[in-house]
Amino acid sequence: MSMDLRELIKTCHRNNAMNSITGILHYSGTYFLQVLEGGRAEVSATYHRIANDPRHSNVILISCSDVRERLFPVWTMGLHEGMDEETRNIFLRYFATKDVNPETVNVDSLLDVLQDLSAELS
Ligand SMILES: Cc1cc2nc3c(=O)[nH]c(=O)nc-3n(C[C@H](O)[C@H](O)[C@H](O)COP(=O)(O)O)c2cc1C
Repeated sequence: MSMDLRELIKTCHRNNAMNSITGILHYSGTYFLQVLEGGRAEVSATYHRIANDPRHSNVILISCSDVRERLFPVWTMGLHEGMDEETRNIFLRYFATKDVNPETVNVDSLLDVLQDLSAELS
């Protein structure tokens, strides 16, 4: 897998700004967790583009829902990278272990984790 995160996040900022999409992308070093928020058509098109991207695999849609407001309004795609102690502690605050099983994870807790991670970004 060739993964140039800087290049990837540049593309995210460019496209998402154009499509009024906001969100966060966490890369643990092994897996990605991402939130996309915006209009239905824009989010759908972006999701399908991402799902077809050969730079990752085993894409799982954890949740898709209508929301009253954005959780990440200031981020055209905030990038949070790595799994340091602070990050591990954030995961452990909401989950029994730092490992997230996308099949069973509680969505509200996961969104809380990602909001806490976004607070670490400047
Ligand atoms: C984990 C991951 C997250 C991505 N997130 C976004 C995103 O939020 N917005 C986006 O436009 N492309 C995202 N991409 C890239 C798309 O898969 C695709 O390469 C890109 O949208 C193509 O844009 P371009 O035609 O302008 O190069 C992501 C890719 C990966 C692997």
